[in-house]
Amino acid sequence: MSNKRFYIETYGCQMNFADTEVVNSILMEDGMDPVQTAEEADIIFVNTCSIRENAETRVWNRLKEFRSLKDEKRDLTVGVMGCMAERIKDKIIEQEKLVDIVVGPDAYREIPNLLKEVDDGRKAVNVLLSLEETYADITPVRTSGNGVTAFVSIMRGCDNMCAFCVVPFTRGRERSRPMSSILSEVKQLSDQGYKEVTLLGQNVNSYNYEDIDFTRLMDEASKVDPEMRFRFSSPHPKDFPEPLLHLIAERPNLCNYIHIPAQAGSDTMLERMRRPYTREQYLTLIDKMRDIIPGVSLSTDIITGFCDETEEEHEATMSLMKIVGYDLAYMFAYSERERTLAHRKYEDNVPEDVKKRRLSQIIEQQMNIQEQINNNEVGKRHLVLIEGTSKRSDEQLAGRTDTNKMVIIDKKDFRKGDYVEVIITGNTSATLFGDPVKKSSIAEFYENRELVAS
Ligand code: 5AD
Ligand code: SF4
Repeated sequence: MSNKRFYIETYGCQMNFADTEVVNSILMEDGMDPVQTAEEADIIFVNTCSIRENAETRVWNRLKEFRSLKDEKRDLTVGVMGCMAERIKDKIIEQEKLVDIVVGPDAYREIPNLLKEVDDGRKAVNVLLSLEETYADITPVRTSGNGVTAFVSIMRGCDNMCAFCVVPFTRGRERSRPMSSILSEVKQLSDQGYKEVTLLGQNVNSYNYEDIDFTRLMDEASKVDPEMRFRFSSPHPKDFPEPLLHLIAERPNLCNYIHIPAQAGSDTMLERMRRPYTREQYLTLIDKMRDIIPGVSLSTDIITGFCDETEEEHEATMSLMKIVGYDLAYMFAYSERERTLAHRKYEDNVPEDVKKRRLSQIIEQQMNIQEQINNNEVGKRHLVLIEGTSKRSDEQLAGRTDTNKMVIIDKKDFRKGDYVEVIITGNTSATLFGDPVKKSSIAEFYENRELVAS
């Protein structure tokens, strides 16, 4: 036991942020106290991401900054956790002498022991991946965040082996967390006043624990608290379950928003990427989503400039994005990662300037599409969950629609955690502005909407 102060800085995806909350819990159980800045801490952890080169570069730069803190503060301990751990353990400890601890995503329970090794003057490393670890019995501690929306991890690892992706190597094999432990975390969050939960996994539709599938899990989770909203991230287009679409359509607290990564728009590219679906199958799935859940909001991930990408393939990605008309898209230039199939088998041969140009083209098109979609929101009525004060003004609040669009309203008497009925009055390509009508609830809002519709 010790009463040292720790600080964790997190990079990467929501999974990584959820892992930080698990590590908060492990360290606090061990008697340590969380602090909000690196300067106050005795122990600094950087929770790292390897998905693209620039994610790693940011972490390296940050570690160098911590190195100078270490010079000032002799007994400062610096640790690297997360996805970069395995890949760079030797480099990090031997060449650069930047860090004392390297701990991979499945070894977080070992952190207290690793810290003892450091106290004894050794460098400590554990990057072993596991087939079972889900941290099911650990209740994450949310030290940052808004107290309204939370992430709950439902599985770990990934077995998909997309040709470009390093995740199967950094996070290991896929395994699902027991449903009972997920539901009890959801219940706890509801008791603490949280109003929205996003269930997280690298590939949520392959969730499977003792024959419970993802649709059943969503069904059970949404029944824990009908006034709590549920989202999920990310499903895979190859086997998205149709019963889930019907469930989302029926259940007012399952959000009408689906993040469904396409990655590319041509069959040839999808095949090279080892994405086991065709453009047509993907578009059929999108039609089904829109058919079953009218007004569903959709987002995607797109990679541009993957190996051997031709101009035609790029155009096919552009046209897919135009046909679907995504409400939101995360767009990336391909970044080669060691150990992936693409690294072993293909050449990263699209020149940087071509990657950049193609990326700008898809971003520009997407911004125009979003602007048009959001223009059409004006005049519509939404139930907005208030997440906090607007970044721009203390007199305004920011929240999200069920369809995951950010809305800014005047503060009036509303507060964080309220559901507010809002009429949209204006927009940009990224944000909506609205007039608040009144405080409401999921039950009230959807009952009225059904009355209006019938
Ligand atoms: N280069 C660029 N983008 C990548 N992604 C995954 N691997 C790479 C890579 N090597 C993107 C994918 C994925 C998102 C999380 O990051 O679009 O869905
Ligand atoms: Fe998340 Fe992937 Fe980055 Fe790991 S490499 S933190 S799984 S985005």
